[in-house]
Amino acid sequence: MKLVLASKNQHKLVELQTILGQMGLEVVLESEIGIDVDVEETGVTFAENAMLKAKAVMEASGMAAIADDSGLMVDALNGEPGVYSARYGGRETDLDRTMLLLENMKDVPEEKRTGRFVSAIACALPDGREVTAEGVCEGTILFELRGNGGFGYDPVFYVPVLGKTFAEAGAEEKNAISHRGNALREFCKAWKESGLC
Ligand code: IMP
Repeated sequence: MKLVLASKNQHKLVELQTILGQMGLEVVLESEIGIDVDVEETGVTFAENAMLKAKAVMEASGMAAIADDSGLMVDALNGEPGVYSARYGGRETDLDRTMLLLENMKDVPEEKRTGRFVSAIACALPDGREVTAEGVCEGTILFELRGNGGFGYDPVFYVPVLGKTFAEAGAEEKNAISHRGNALREFCKAWKESGLC
């Protein structure tokens, strides 16, 4: 089955296609089927926003649509940037948002710099069926950037089980333990349980 990904993020496409491809699902970007849906993320949870995006793209395309809504929750900042991760402080770029995070955490000592990435996956099918899943990945926020790979807050997110940041990890290494990887593995189970494959 072909699923339209409600996103313009090429990094997400690669991460989703790698795992969902193993179940025989093909993921395509909205742009590949000629649609461009701008969804206002008005939900207060990742799960709500993921479903808002999936439904909007399903309705616009008439095809099964999948969306990920994800972000970084930092304990010392009471869960921020959270659902505002992609627009933290109104900053325009990944680097600006990451620098703002470091600035807001400059007085937070090492032992209190814990946090986690959270990913909610939602799939909406034209016949009204829905499949959802969630995943997390625990880590700590460094005092400076480390590594050149990945995207978003990857260069400051240190993952103890890897011994490196997400930006220093290879794609496979990241997928194996990441919030999105974990959410997608849960999604695959839920998809099978729904009798969809
Ligand atoms: P979304 O596209 O609305 O789900 O926004 C997700 C935002 O959370 C991105 O813009 C990134 O800032 C951040 N984010 C989510 N997943 C990751 C990741 O795997 N690495 C780094 N940042 C991420």
